[in-house]
Amino acid sequence: VAPLRVGIAGLGTVGAEVVRLIEEQSRMLAERSGRGVRVVAVTARSKAKKRSLDLRGINWAKSPLDLASDANVDCFVELMGGSGEPALSAIEAALKSGKSVVTANKALIAKHGVRLAKAAEKHGGAFNYEAAVGAAIPVIKTLREGLAGTGVNRVYGILNGTCNYILTRMEQEGLSFAECLKDAQRLGYAEANPSFDVDGHDTAQKLAILASLAFGTKVAQSAVYVEGISSIAPEDLRAAEELGYRVKLLGVAVRTAKGIEQRVHPTMVPKSSAIAQVMGVTNAVTVDGEGIPPITLVGPGAGGAATASAVVADIADVARGIRAKPFGRPVERLRDTTKAPMERH
Ligand code: HSE
Repeated sequence: VAPLRVGIAGLGTVGAEVVRLIEEQSRMLAERSGRGVRVVAVTARSKAKKRSLDLRGINWAKSPLDLASDANVDCFVELMGGSGEPALSAIEAALKSGKSVVTANKALIAKHGVRLAKAAEKHGGAFNYEAAVGAAIPVIKTLREGLAGTGVNRVYGILNGTCNYILTRMEQEGLSFAECLKDAQRLGYAEANPSFDVDGHDTAQKLAILASLAFGTKVAQSAVYVEGISSIAPEDLRAAEELGYRVKLLGVAVRTAKGIEQRVHPTMVPKSSAIAQVMGVTNAVTVDGEGIPPITLVGPGAGGAATASAVVADIADVARGIRAKPFGRPVERLRDTTKAPMERH
């Protein structure tokens, strides 16, 4: 079988790591997917930037759209980020020409996921986004395939590595919010615009995606009530601790009599609880299913290596020929998410 030809748009922390990982793991990837995987073309904002990457033999496309339209590319991998252009048009063009797409772009999926899933279903390509939520944790697969036979009542957890890293260091070392954020940026955890992390929007995007998979609703960030952590000081964490609590930024999506409620806000959790033990850049997602005890997945939630690992797993699925429905069921079966953001109570 001819190898799967991969085109990668975006060579930042994640993109560069994906190129490296595909090269390093090429034998295992071929064994596991029954087909070789080769990066044939890339594109990035700056071609001149110094990268410790061997790009010999790999073509440079002029733009993401060119790469997405390249007849020599079977699988378009979008790692540029941003909820709109140029990612949106490039992904749409790739899907419309029947190519498969792999992306880590939660902002784009939270905004245009339904439209893109429709294009994937219509033209037969895969649309995989495991890396968009919980980085290396296989949480999309778990909800979409692993729990397909189980009704979900609630899905919740710590979905932003940057915030959990900041809260952990503020609590343990008494450092200021600003200092911790700077470190999270230096370590490659934070978004290009870190206010997406600390104001809760990144968590909201991820929660909206998980809620769609768990409850069969259309993914919609606008349905999520959001409050971030930027006003929390070390003293607040100390006060919580004296009462036996830790503060975590949680995303919660729950089935209620009135519909699916989705919310993101700092939450006091008892120090002895499982979720309070989740420290640093780690993420944790718990699913309360119908008739079975809760299932919790814990693991690295951000960073180049952790995110790249999920991107490469998605590429391996494309190489294997797996074409899962992007949201676990046909798009036209997804119900509207009508609930307006709830008020905090
Ligand atoms: N900025 C995100 C985080 C990256 O800190 O969790 C992973 O999605």
